[in-house]
Amino acid sequence: MATKKEIEEMLRKSGYSEKAIEYYTDKTNLGKIENPDVESTYMGICGDVMTFTLKVEKNRIKDIKFQATCCAGGLSAGSAATKLVQGKTVDEARKLTEEDIARHLEGCPKQKLHCIVLALKSLKKALDEYSEKEKSSKNKK
Ligand code: FES
Repeated sequence: MATKKEIEEMLRKSGYSEKAIEYYTDKTNLGKIENPDVESTYMGICGDVMTFTLKVEKNRIKDIKFQATCCAGGLSAGSAATKLVQGKTVDEARKLTEEDIARHLEGCPKQKLHCIVLALKSLKKALDEYSEKEKSSKNKK
């Protein structure tokens, strides 16, 4: 089995930046929030799935984690997405783009751009579901 150092070297050779490698090996924000305000899963074109759980307070993202059945590209993109929207309002988070994630990662193989799309679409689905939930709970009042 490859050591952490060997895996890092393989990722470097594939075109991942040091930041993307760090997110992948540190598993940044990988996990699940207990009693989240929203939990949402999306499947990308590669067949991998990503689930986001969020805690939102006064329309601001207080905590965010993700889980995924995917590659290093998807995992580093998921971590980047959580870092970029933590502390933002739901509307601000909705403005996140593929380019924002790619720029934040500072380098990822071209063949892995669809993994960034998976992270972004999964996050946006979670945000949409949160807003829908909020809307319907307000309508009930
Ligand atoms: Fe599916 Fe990267 S190949 S997320």
